[in-house]
Amino acid sequence: MIHLTVRNLHKHFGGNHVLKGVGFEVKGAELIGLIGPNGAGKTTLTNILDGAIKPTSGTVYLNGERIDQLEPYEVARAGLGRTFQVTRSFRRMTVLENLQVPALAMDRGESRAEMRDKAHDVLEFLTMEHLRNEFAQALSGGQQKLLELGRLLMLDPDVIILDEPFAGVHPKLMEIIYAYIRRVNEAGKAIIIISHQMDSIFSLSERLLVLNFGDLIADGPPEAVKRDPAVIEAYLGSDEEEEA
Ligand SMILES: Nc1ncnc2c1ncn2[C@@H]1O[C@H](COP(=O)(O)OP(=O)(O)OP(=O)(O)O)[C@@H](O)[C@H]1O
Ligand SMILES: [Mg+2]
Repeated sequence: MIHLTVRNLHKHFGGNHVLKGVGFEVKGAELIGLIGPNGAGKTTLTNILDGAIKPTSGTVYLNGERIDQLEPYEVARAGLGRTFQVTRSFRRMTVLENLQVPALAMDRGESRAEMRDKAHDVLEFLTMEHLRNEFAQALSGGQQKLLELGRLLMLDPDVIILDEPFAGVHPKLMEIIYAYIRRVNEAGKAIIIISHQMDSIFSLSERLLVLNFGDLIADGPPEAVKRDPAVIEAYLGSDEEEEA
């Protein structure tokens, strides 16, 4: 069973104490929302989990393997993948190439033909088949987000972290992203969704984590978290509902 253990993470950027002892566990195919005001530390936490930056202290284990000192490609191999709040792609490669490159880099013994077939399936699911030969730089913001989701499908990680998947996305693409999240979750994967869009978070999540200035102030069922006075005080009661 999938098991992610985050223990007592601290992160300092110079004098700025951005994560202050964050800890939680993910067991099995959980669908978790991670919320908190701007600057709470959500992206920083994601950057630590995927190996992009190292914590000042604390540990992260995925399925028994310690991953907090690994590089991103090693973390990907261990089974954790993420999308970026500001999307990233190989801008001068085609959509199809963008999907295949990370999968090739993983070198898991799949043939090129298998990978190409998989890429076509992924594009079909994302309704992007017609864009397969376009350069990534020609895609809209929403399509860039879909491409990142596609890249993750190719790698098929156990734990997926989506950093603001809905921000600036057209309602039509929003439906595709919802379907994607449900499909990946039903396939037995754990998903952590970071979003400022409360409607989406509350309709999708079975569990909510709330970060506030580096402290994890709540962890539980959305209905309970919604009523938690500390959460209302820190977040829901404030007027910070803008998109990132
Ligand atoms: N590389 C960095 N160097 C210095 N400070 C950083 C760096 N990355 C993040 N920070 C600081 O860490 C804090 C948390 O930022 P982070 O991006 O993790 O917040 P967030 O919860 O993702 O916010 P948002 O909802 O706006 O995306 C902020 O004060 C930010 O300025
Ligand atoms: Mg962020």
